[in-house]
Amino acid sequence: MERKVLEGRTAVVTGGAQGIGAAIARDLAAHGATVVVADLNRSGAERVGNELGGDCFGLGVDVGDEAQVAGLCTEVTARTGRWDILVNNAAIVPFTSWDAVDFREWRRIMRVNLDGVFLMCRSASDEMRKRGYGRIVNIASNAFFAGTPNMAAYIAAKGGVVGFTRALATELGTFGITVNAVSPGLTASDGVLGGPHAASFDFVQSLQAIKRRGEPEDIAPVVTFLCSEEARWVTGSTFNVDGGHVRH
Ligand SMILES: NC(=O)c1ccc[n+]([C@@H]2O[C@H](COP(=O)([O-])OP(=O)(O)OC[C@H]3O[C@@H](n4cnc5c(N)ncnc54)[C@H](O)[C@@H]3O)[C@@H](O)[C@H]2O)c1
Repeated sequence: MERKVLEGRTAVVTGGAQGIGAAIARDLAAHGATVVVADLNRSGAERVGNELGGDCFGLGVDVGDEAQVAGLCTEVTARTGRWDILVNNAAIVPFTSWDAVDFREWRRIMRVNLDGVFLMCRSASDEMRKRGYGRIVNIASNAFFAGTPNMAAYIAAKGGVVGFTRALATELGTFGITVNAVSPGLTASDGVLGGPHAASFDFVQSLQAIKRRGEPEDIAPVVTFLCSEEARWVTGSTFNVDGGHVRH
């Protein structure tokens, strides 16, 4: 895709301090967007925001906290004057047998992985509607389609994200706002490389059509396309980006 297709656009990427979110933030910035890196890890968000250069910046936010999300919205519009693109990437990715998850843990996962998407979409869409233009991309997971073991609460939340994406596309279509989801397969992000999921790479590769590890940079260009003007006729869809692991 032509390099500066996102010039003049402001994009917010949640969970952008590391992993897939940081790769998405870099790709959007490389295509000309002013990127706001929003993460629970404030110093990490600021580091990536500064690396991106231009008017990009990072800030701390807990996407599951309504007041903090409202504060983020105020800061984004005050500093950039607009909000065109939202990538809901922040999530926690536990690996626990379903019956070892008590209600408190279930709520912790839902709060970030599903409530956070709702709160961010509410804030962003209000701003996007003012200008009659917007691009929302929600990061789901191919675990939703594969039914991967030890991820039941996570998969329930990601299923909610896919369903919410479809419904929100209907609600926002008349305002010039598209809403799509990208569902990565196992990807060598910072979170995965530092946790129990890393032990699954060989097995997952054996199921993929393309026999190598997925990298964060494999996910980002698909997100960038969905954030561009060229993707104007695409909404309510979920795209697997997983080297041909799950065929959906
Ligand atoms: N890596 C994979 O294999 C994989 C596969 C499928 C889907 N995904 C999805 O891709 C996205 C990114 O995954 P990743 O592997 O890069 O994750 P990661 O763990 O490397 O990074 C997640 C980031 O989200 C931030 N975060 C966590 N809770 C937050 C909160 N409450 N508010 C704001 N930020 C918060 C973290 O600080 C971190 O910077 C997630 O939505 C994940 O579910 C990842």
